[in-house]
Amino acid sequence: MSDLFSKFDPLIQQRDELLATGLTDPFNLVMEKVESPTVAICNGKRTILLGTYNYMGMTFDPDVIAAGKQALDDFGSGTTGSRVLNGTYGGHKAVEEALKDFYAMDHAMVFSTGYQANLGVISTIAGKDDYIVLDIDSHASIYDGCALGNAQIIPFRHNDIEALEKRLKRIPEGADKLVVLEGVYSMLGDVAPLKEMVAVSKANGAMVLIDEAHSMGFIGENGRGVAEAQGVIDDVDFIIGTFSKSVGTVGGFCVSNHPKFEILRLVCRPYVFTASLPPSVVATAATSIRKLMDSADKRAHLWENSKRLHAGLRQLGFTLGTDEPQSAIIAVIMPDLEKGAAMWEALLNEGLYVNLARPPATPAGMTLLRCSLCALHSEEQVGEILGMFAAAGRATGCIS
Ligand SMILES: Cc1ncc(COP(=O)(O)O)c(C=O)c1O
Repeated sequence: MSDLFSKFDPLIQQRDELLATGLTDPFNLVMEKVESPTVAICNGKRTILLGTYNYMGMTFDPDVIAAGKQALDDFGSGTTGSRVLNGTYGGHKAVEEALKDFYAMDHAMVFSTGYQANLGVISTIAGKDDYIVLDIDSHASIYDGCALGNAQIIPFRHNDIEALEKRLKRIPEGADKLVVLEGVYSMLGDVAPLKEMVAVSKANGAMVLIDEAHSMGFIGENGRGVAEAQGVIDDVDFIIGTFSKSVGTVGGFCVSNHPKFEILRLVCRPYVFTASLPPSVVATAATSIRKLMDSADKRAHLWENSKRLHAGLRQLGFTLGTDEPQSAIIAVIMPDLEKGAAMWEALLNEGLYVNLARPPATPAGMTLLRCSLCALHSEEQVGEILGMFAAAGRATGCIS
């Protein structure tokens, strides 16, 4: 009798050994009550949230909540159908209009998650005879999109412009090629040199797709992301994004100016063969996206928070993923999984939630405590957070 689960034995053993030390399971925490975008009750205790992707704090916005409630009353709890059959309501069109306005682009297509947006768009546009050149630290959904389409994958060293150029030049003459990049890389919170990379891609005849999941709403003058901030958004062929971060709900999308873009609605399997988002979700997303257009003050405050936390952690003696704060993600590098898990638990006991990230999700086998800031964290909360890092860091021997 075969045991198809035997391949997981090393992971099961590692996990059992870690939990046998008496540690709280870092991947099984329950948020018993969520009081605001920055505070929840965990294990009966008030806990500051520093590990969500709620960058712009939209989850409790009164207008967003009102729009969701109204849509539930008017349209029911779900569509029970695909976008191409009975699953397109007025709200789906309205959120696509909001996206077109937000990005100032001609086309917007909404998927049920950001994962499906990458899976769908990448696998549909790049097939067996096409080449995809991608940063080696790309998100799993990008790799899965490449695999589903069966394209030839050529990874290059993280954020290395020369390596990208070399890979592009090696592709056989006449082959179609797509370069896939991210604006902000979510593990270390570092930003891609998109200005140079988009230029190199275009000079070598490639189309460019950028995943701006972690920059939408925050980075760039209008919150359109790193491509906007670096002045290359008009040269980008496709932007992929998600509603599960700054927008504050769930869903994914692609925006583009490509004149043939709309045909994707008929040929993209992760769009066609799945149910569309519930009416309440698209209503909350549309309201949130329209409010994000006018959020310069919140963007400025989030930058302040990011700078304050980065400087404070550094001063305490922690090793961080970037020399300067580049986004709303600040990664604290831990020496190993055991120390990382101990520090994670000590922070939770102090009343702070951060994300524990470990391989294979992390680059170079690193264990990270990923902190992601919210525009609604107050200056006082950032001070509290630093106090908790100091106490937990000393208790676990991560800092002296
Ligand atoms: C870079 C990137 N792309 C795509 C996704 C998928 O987004 P979603 O949560 O909407 O599936 C994520 C989620 O973490 C991400 O970090």
